[in-house]
Amino acid sequence: MNNKIDQTKEEIKYFHIKTYNDLELFRIKFLGKKKGIITNLFKELKKISIYKRKIYGKTINELKKEVKNKIKIFHEKNDIQNDKILNFDPTIPGKSIEIGSRHPLSIIKNKIIDLFGKIGFLHVDGPEIEDDWHNFTALNIPISHPARDMQDTFFLCKNSDILLRTHTSSVQIRYMKKHSPPFRVLSVGKVYRNETISSRSNFMFHQAEGFYIDKKVSFYDLKQTIHYLITSLFGEVKIRFRPSYFPFTEPSAEVDIYYNNNSGWIEIMGCGMIDPQVLKNVNIDSEIYSGFAFGLGIERLSLIIYQMKDIRIYFDNDIRFLKQFKSEF
Ligand code: PHE
Repeated sequence: MNNKIDQTKEEIKYFHIKTYNDLELFRIKFLGKKKGIITNLFKELKKISIYKRKIYGKTINELKKEVKNKIKIFHEKNDIQNDKILNFDPTIPGKSIEIGSRHPLSIIKNKIIDLFGKIGFLHVDGPEIEDDWHNFTALNIPISHPARDMQDTFFLCKNSDILLRTHTSSVQIRYMKKHSPPFRVLSVGKVYRNETISSRSNFMFHQAEGFYIDKKVSFYDLKQTIHYLITSLFGEVKIRFRPSYFPFTEPSAEVDIYYNNNSGWIEIMGCGMIDPQVLKNVNIDSEIYSGFAFGLGIERLSLIIYQMKDIRIYFDNDIRFLKQFKSEF
């Protein structure tokens, strides 16, 4: 009897239960009604003396407990997992992952970069923190020049000439100083002006600036390029060049489009032939080279293209507004 009990103890301990099937085999092997090892041990008890029966009875009961305990542990480990699988409801819709969309200003910006990439314009970046010389002086706007008032400036330190660039024309200067012509360059980025926030203006907005310098670049090339840009963005619309003034271009023009009958002529950008003085400031021989430049506001374009009335909506981060814009750009 003793031997049998010890052997059974070992067998219970080392029975490997991996599956529910194993569990059932385990149960039958030890507790099966007809041939279960423990069941049989209980049957054998009847054959031994009453005195010994008590002691063996207790030990066999403990074996039974061990078997039941092992079964319980298996259930505890596996039933939760099983529950999850069994209670899985295939009709519950899957979790959808929201796909982000591009910001409308980025769409226009990328479109412009793409359009100019196609006609050989290199896309470059410039710093948003500038010094007075790159933002004003080199562009023919000396300190006392009234044109400085056109672009109310954020200075970063008192009595210093470090400022937030008021236009992307500063990138022209940076690029022209470092490279020799010919070149066609496009720069897009944030600019800052101390303006009151309203439906039409903000203290920060985005500009795209293009410039082209080579031998014999003429106003005709400028017009062609602007025509290409506008028709690519708006389709066939009427375009008007209106004489204007910028200190760094001569002659200068403002470009208007006749987009739809309701709005009449809408001004969309400034441009002109780069002033020879600006070329001199960056050591380019203005006797040999000439060039044009243009600058436009991305927010402004975007208001027209998307028929919006208030630029503040671009900066509200309202996901319901933002997710309406789908684009390949
Ligand atoms: N820098 C001008 C502005 O911010 C735009 C411009 C750029 C005009 C290039 C002419 C040529 O208003």
